[in-house]
Amino acid sequence: MKTRNSLRAALCLGIALSLNACAVAEDEIWPKVKSPVAGNANIENRVETVLATMNLEQKVGQMVQAEVKSISPEDAGRYHIGSVLNGGGSWPTGDVDGPLGGWLSLANLFYKESMSTENGRLAIPLIWGTDAVHGHNNVQGATIFPHNIGLGAANNPGLMRDIGTATAREVAVTGIDWAFAPTVAVARDIRWGRTYESYSSDPKIVAELSKEMLLGLQGHPALDNFLSEQKLIATAKHFIGDGGTTGGKDQGDTALTEQELFDIHGQGYVQALGVGVQTVMASFNSWNGNKLHGSKYMLTDVLKGKMGFDGFVIGDWNGHEQIPGCTKASCAAAINAGVDMIMVPEDWKAFSENTVRQVKAGEITRARIDDAVRRILRVKLRAGMFDDGKPSSHELAGRAKLIGHESHRAVARQAVRESLVLLKNEKTLPIAKTAKIIVAGSGADNPSMQSGGWTLTWQGRDVPAEQYKGFTTIKDGFDRALKSGNVTSDTDASADVAVIVFGETPYAEMEGDLASTDFDLTDSADFALMQNLKARNIPVVAVFLSGRPRGVDAVIKTSDAFVAAWLPGSEGAGVADVLVSSRYNFKGKLPFDWPAGGAAPFKARGFGLTHSGTPPK
Ligand code: BGC
Ligand code: BGC
Repeated sequence: MKTRNSLRAALCLGIALSLNACAVAEDEIWPKVKSPVAGNANIENRVETVLATMNLEQKVGQMVQAEVKSISPEDAGRYHIGSVLNGGGSWPTGDVDGPLGGWLSLANLFYKESMSTENGRLAIPLIWGTDAVHGHNNVQGATIFPHNIGLGAANNPGLMRDIGTATAREVAVTGIDWAFAPTVAVARDIRWGRTYESYSSDPKIVAELSKEMLLGLQGHPALDNFLSEQKLIATAKHFIGDGGTTGGKDQGDTALTEQELFDIHGQGYVQALGVGVQTVMASFNSWNGNKLHGSKYMLTDVLKGKMGFDGFVIGDWNGHEQIPGCTKASCAAAINAGVDMIMVPEDWKAFSENTVRQVKAGEITRARIDDAVRRILRVKLRAGMFDDGKPSSHELAGRAKLIGHESHRAVARQAVRESLVLLKNEKTLPIAKTAKIIVAGSGADNPSMQSGGWTLTWQGRDVPAEQYKGFTTIKDGFDRALKSGNVTSDTDASADVAVIVFGETPYAEMEGDLASTDFDLTDSADFALMQNLKARNIPVVAVFLSGRPRGVDAVIKTSDAFVAAWLPGSEGAGVADVLVSSRYNFKGKLPFDWPAGGAAPFKARGFGLTHSGTPPK
């Protein structure tokens, strides 16, 4: 790790032209970050005007975010609710294959109720947030980009901006204003179930790629596309230290000094604030034993105070209930610590009532409520929500052809190509265009394994393959790349080479936590198949689908070529693009160290071969 100041200087230089993210006080750990969008007097005046008309119930309502399955548009209006989210695998009609128009219709209903002035209500547009973490991934037919770990392997900042742009466009079609992305986590222990949401174990790579993703999602503060109707409000998450927990335990404790916390886990936030990220999500984890949702020091003193963040802090899914003394339905401590909007999916009503009571009892000051509501109104005003009209009147709304548009798929396919890391090649790759090949293994024709968690559902499983509309599987990609009839899935066939796709099955969050990084090959049909092919003298190319490196020495040893393909998403053809002929070379480098039982000590960024066996430039 470089020293603090040289690391910061390097990051400051990385900021684009007019975005001056860094003004460093030597004696401070946390730099003041100048927001490129702060200080608009017109907006600040409007914030004050709206705030002055609100009563306590209306203010508290703004601070509450409910889940669309647990609240009707009518109730959202009646209780002045400021925001809704759809969680992983939550679709407006309740069916994964419900009509696309259902998203926009529901967004319109929520908007309409929030803008009603009946019975003394105030017109304040409700904001809808969604986990568009690798494309608009809850929506059937959307372009699904590689999960962040693959993008870290690609490490192409320009491509990140394109991905952000495409994602924002697809989300805008559905009338949603806000994405809970990017995850700026720096995973330091790959046993963590969310490792694939992290670009890299290297804070510098995370910071740089997050910044570019944000410029794509929100637009560029120096350009007139910032928070335009083609763009979204984005979220840097999860503040802070989510990737640093002991043993990689999800929602666990990150035991670090404050300097280490900044050096490793703070870099992404410096860059995110520097390009004007509008929301930051509090993390489920603790820092040295204290839950972040209850940390006034981190949320208020550091993030809003020292770093100068003027957007709003959103809580994570019932994250407040983990603070001692809190429940899902009641938590003055989270608000007092600095959470401005509480994600309280089901218990929104009781939570609102309890909060109003706590303010009246003096447990939460009115000044604190005003501060939170100011921040929420400021972001809504910056995004033009008060003036843009109903969701269906926005520029891209309802333009169904943009969902899974071929230009977006081309970006995703490029990302797949660039994410592939070649760990071994014994004169097997590239595969000749005229070769006869077997493409098999559990992941060869498997959209769910290909895309991992946070795809259609939270865990990314239990959805039949035919529901992954618009997907090209890895096998499909080979079918297209080779002469027709030359690709078979018949593992008994004779062939010049076999591509065996295997790997992890999908998971999200804590369900992906591991005790050991070893990948269990006991009873693995895929491994038995590789051994069988080798016995028949058919060279084996092993393609590993996974959310992280795993100990797979036996496969690396058995195979003639080994490719880490991460979780590529909907554009499986990107794999054949690189493996067949030499049109595209391997570019990816390891974003994390690869664990090995002695056979293959692959270091982060230090590994990755081209077809010719030399490291990529
Ligand atoms: C996750 C967040 C996510 C939220 C909403 C939480 O469980 O930690 O990353 O944005 O759910 O789905
Ligand atoms: C939701 C996710 C959420 C998770 C939190 C799930 O039921 O679908 O969006 O992140 O719960 O535990």
